[in-house]
Amino acid sequence: MGVHGGVFTLTIAKLNLRLRNHLFRTLMRQEIGFFDENHTGDIISRLSADTTQMSDLLSLNINIFLQSTIKGIGIFIFMFGMSWKLTLVAIVGFPFIAIVSELYGNYYKKLTKEVQTILADANKVAEETISSMRTVRSFANECGEAESYYGKLLVMFQLNKKQALAYAGYMWSSNISELALEVAILYYGGHLVITGQMSSGSLISFFIYMLELGECLQNIASVYTGLMQGVGAAEKVFEYLDREPKHPADGTEAPDTCTGVVEFKDIKFAYPTRPETEILKGVSFTLRPGEVTALVGPSGSGKSSCVSLLENFYLPQQGQVLLDGKPIHTFQHDYLHSKVALVGQEPVLFARTVEENITYGLTDVPMETVVQAAIEANAHDFITSLSTGYGTNVGEKGTQLSGGQKQRVAIARALIRNPRVLILDEATSALDAESEHIVQKALNNIMQERTVLVIAHRLSTVEKADNIIVIDRGHVAEQGSHSQLIASGGLYYKLVQRQVLGIETGAEVLNKPEKLSWKSDGGRQRRRQSSSGSGSESEHNLRY
Ligand SMILES: Nc1ncnc2c1ncn2[C@@H]1O[C@H](COP(=O)(O)OP(=O)(O)OP(=O)(O)O)[C@@H](O)[C@H]1O
Ligand SMILES: [Mg+2]
Repeated sequence: MGVHGGVFTLTIAKLNLRLRNHLFRTLMRQEIGFFDENHTGDIISRLSADTTQMSDLLSLNINIFLQSTIKGIGIFIFMFGMSWKLTLVAIVGFPFIAIVSELYGNYYKKLTKEVQTILADANKVAEETISSMRTVRSFANECGEAESYYGKLLVMFQLNKKQALAYAGYMWSSNISELALEVAILYYGGHLVITGQMSSGSLISFFIYMLELGECLQNIASVYTGLMQGVGAAEKVFEYLDREPKHPADGTEAPDTCTGVVEFKDIKFAYPTRPETEILKGVSFTLRPGEVTALVGPSGSGKSSCVSLLENFYLPQQGQVLLDGKPIHTFQHDYLHSKVALVGQEPVLFARTVEENITYGLTDVPMETVVQAAIEANAHDFITSLSTGYGTNVGEKGTQLSGGQKQRVAIARALIRNPRVLILDEATSALDAESEHIVQKALNNIMQERTVLVIAHRLSTVEKADNIIVIDRGHVAEQGSHSQLIASGGLYYKLVQRQVLGIETGAEVLNKPEKLSWKSDGGRQRRRQSSSGSGSESEHNLRY
């Protein structure tokens, strides 16, 4: 018995291992649009709760199922040997039990699927809330979140109640039908004994066998419930397992040399989650090696969307993004991302050490290279001042670092790959003027021969670019150098004007302190000005 149990525990563990591994790999292959559509909590629920339920129930129940079936067949053969007539009577009752099982099984399967879905919903709430605890706390919405989680649990409880009710009904009907069968057997068996076709001893043994068989059948039926529960969960798991990525990363190109010319050719693009809203409406531009191109434009105009396309996260509906004349989706996945590196608008670090974050996705990187990249990103000083230096854990999503520190680690992570195309999407927005200056200097060094795409609101970063592309509502409004664009007096000029105007307004406020609110405080006057920083804002910001 012990060996038996051990083997089954091992089987479950093995099944779980294979299932989760396979499911996670399938998830990793999916296109970015899939992750826009599906919530993290949902996916995690599939990966943990559903796989566990599936493998536990399947293997446990298959165990009982096999045992009971073999035993049942043996008993059946004995019974048949004793009296085929009585066995026939017994058989007549079976279809009825089978039909009840089938109906019940289907209903149960449906309920289980619903339970799993609502469980995933609950997980979604829990995951989102716990991972954004600071926001929840700062808006004092703990109770609101708890209520919404409880709401999901209540829905699940309703489903559980239905399940319990269905189970009771099922047990009741199967018991009744079993009883009816027993009565029929006794009645007909008694008749056989009276007419001398069977001895009373045989009838008793037949009846005992039949009770045993009934137990086997009951086991099989309860296993059926379990199996259906497993199947309900499994269907959800298989939905993911069978999903083929709509935009697979299966390119094969990996040329030895990469010059880094990037062309956007008449790109039209809408996000898969909102196919009706066209974000880019025929965008064309070229990024050349040795040049810094700045992408500017109002918030929501589609700058980061261009970056996502260049990273091969999505496929445009029309047009192509070309790297060295070849569509980027034809390149090998690893190759493309070793040549094109991105420092995103909201850089995300992993809950690992600083070193592991910088070398993310690379193997066997010598420490000197890591330090070199950190120095270039102006991150070395702050990293060494951390308690355990490069071995410091940065916390979930890097929360244990400041915004600017996170950005610098993210810059180091991009630089260490020595990419041909470097994309900086608001990469230095959280840095102070001094740090930005140092990072900018390092970037200037590496920018030579590389293709650099900078998205920034700061005029100081933008104005030095070789080429400035102004994007407005999904169109390229104009492009050229800072002086050209200022001279032409178009949108860029207006944006700069507005920003200069903004600073003037700020100066006005500063020059008239009497307009600020003053409060009498025990005879003393205290100036109550929030630390908005408007007074110290010496940076020129392009604010739209
Ligand atoms: N994953 C997404 N799914 C659906 N729509 C999206 C997605 N990401 C962005 N959008 C939409 O695309 C539009 C362009 O967004 P994008 O991030 O490219 O703007 P942006 O120019 O980078 O703005 P910002 O300067 O604020 O960063 C926005 O209207 C936004 O709502
Ligand atoms: Mg953006």
